[in-house]
Amino acid sequence: MKIKKIISCFLALILLIGAVGCTAASPQQSDSQQQESQPQKPPAIEAAQKTLVIYFSATGSTKAVAETIAETLEADIDEIIPEQPYTSEDLNWRDETSRVNAEHEDADFRPAIAGDIKDLSAYDTIFIGYPIWWGEAPNIVWNFVESYDFSGKTMIPFCTSSSSGLGSSGETLAALAPDAEWLEGQRFPSNASAEDVVNWVKGLELNP
Ligand SMILES: Cc1cc2nc3c(=O)[nH]c(=O)nc-3n(C[C@H](O)[C@H](O)[C@H](O)COP(=O)(O)O)c2cc1C
Repeated sequence: MKIKKIISCFLALILLIGAVGCTAASPQQSDSQQQESQPQKPPAIEAAQKTLVIYFSATGSTKAVAETIAETLEADIDEIIPEQPYTSEDLNWRDETSRVNAEHEDADFRPAIAGDIKDLSAYDTIFIGYPIWWGEAPNIVWNFVESYDFSGKTMIPFCTSSSSGLGSSGETLAALAPDAEWLEGQRFPSNASAEDVVNWVKGLELNP
């Protein structure tokens, strides 16, 4: 009788330990189940630092500088092409009746750009090049800058000219796209040497 009692007590103790063990294990189980049911976080995507060189060039000087910048940085390059190309008569600034004079006198005029709207979303840094016309970027460059959302992008103006400096041309563009970060631009002579352009680009330390 006594042995029976001891055995039944022993069994009861084993059952009790088993029950406690089970309850202790259940939160662990539900934890791991919870983890399994939680959506997996996507791996962190490193933002690619992509650079675009875009330019308008009526007679090729700015185009040459743009190409050197793009080659130096292994950047993409694109051109702002006017829907109506500029002839040499159009560009004759000495002729008061020329196209460029008419455009210059009407600050609100925006010459149309040929082609589709470009997808610039992939680019973090955009070099924007143009010839200096009467101390400023041509109206078609204003049109380009007004046509896009450059917020969060770094913009770097560059220009070519016969003798004028960059002047206020960079600030004028910056005012048209104030949500971008505009760096100080650079002026080159019409016949800029590739070496000068490369040195300037390297000095910017964009890809340290
Ligand atoms: C309409 C017009 C206005 C210009 N105004 C200036 C000027 O104010 N200052 C200057 O130094 N050069 C001026 N230039 C010369 C151009 O800036 C220079 O030739 C430039 O390098 C041309 O670049 P592109 O070949 O890319 O068009 C002017 C040229 C044109 C056609």
